[in-house]
Amino acid sequence: MAIVDGNQRHREQLSDALLSFYAVQTYGDSTNALMGLGVTRPGLVLIGEYVPPSSGVNFLRAMRCERELGHTPVVFVSDNGDPSVLSAALSAGADDCIIKPYRRSALVKSISAQLNIKVERAWRELPPLARNALQDTLTFYSSIADIFDQSLPIQYGAVAESCAALVDAVTTNEFPAILEGIREHDYITYAHSVRVATLLALFGHSIGLPRPQQILLASGGLLHDVGKISIRHSILNKTEKLTDDEWVIIRSHVPAAVNFLRASPDMPKGIVAIAAQHHERLDGSGYPRGLAGGQLNELARMAAIVDIFSSMTDQRVYKPKMAAEGVLKVMTEEMAGQIDQDLLHRFREVFLDTMPAKPTP
Ligand SMILES: [Fe+2]
Ligand SMILES: [Fe+2]
Repeated sequence: MAIVDGNQRHREQLSDALLSFYAVQTYGDSTNALMGLGVTRPGLVLIGEYVPPSSGVNFLRAMRCERELGHTPVVFVSDNGDPSVLSAALSAGADDCIIKPYRRSALVKSISAQLNIKVERAWRELPPLARNALQDTLTFYSSIADIFDQSLPIQYGAVAESCAALVDAVTTNEFPAILEGIREHDYITYAHSVRVATLLALFGHSIGLPRPQQILLASGGLLHDVGKISIRHSILNKTEKLTDDEWVIIRSHVPAAVNFLRASPDMPKGIVAIAAQHHERLDGSGYPRGLAGGQLNELARMAAIVDIFSSMTDQRVYKPKMAAEGVLKVMTEEMAGQIDQDLLHRFREVFLDTMPAKPTP
């Protein structure tokens, strides 16, 4: 996501409004923006009316002439809704326009609509189960913010239903398409959660768990980081070392998720355990409670393995991705006391057996 606007205060306002949702780069003039966007290739560009040395509309025209930026979704932010400016922006190639003063929800809605168009276009080419798995989990995950804001409980039935196609895709070996389809998704916590859900379902399937247990594992994977919904994107994806205070905020996603899930009367205990214990480690070095050995739930041990594996093999703003084999080696050799090595051994076999040609999901 990029913002191109000559007005510094407006750049900051836009950036603040979006920081909990997207990684944002900002540019204050046309030359730097064209150079930067050509390199970073953002999923969407927000353009304000004033972009030095000329106007936002002229910048948009120049951007559309760049081969790699010709089809990047653009939302044009108009100062006062002047019809001639809106019409010029749309003819220059804006996909949508919003007018100041805008509500934050309208801004996010406009951006999401454009990004979903882009994502769904790619998903349409996937095998049906993988496509349904991505669409169903995204619909469910997007609804969590509303559920969260209204302090309503999550219905287990709704989570389980959203994971049904995902589990079927695992059973029929279509799951690599899910991992591939999620790779470019802009909503990082959702993307990570789908990866964890898919690999947990695969793990459960490969060790012979029945379908309801696979659904439960996938649901636990989808919800394990739900507490991150209230943490700013700038902290979740900080490129520099986190301060002690920021670590406290990051760690708070665990009790936040547990409180959220415990409010649901029908939420299975296994799902709460996955959320509560996925950062605990066998040697007691984890958080938030420093549980050790037999205190760790079996499903949570599986979730911890998949969570570590997914995070380390994923490319993030603050780190490059590692190859799957290298990650499994680190987990075996350097984290031997922290994670269940019997389960890790099984996960390693499952992963290498099922994805020999794609070592990194
Ligand atoms: Fe987590
Ligand atoms: Fe996680």
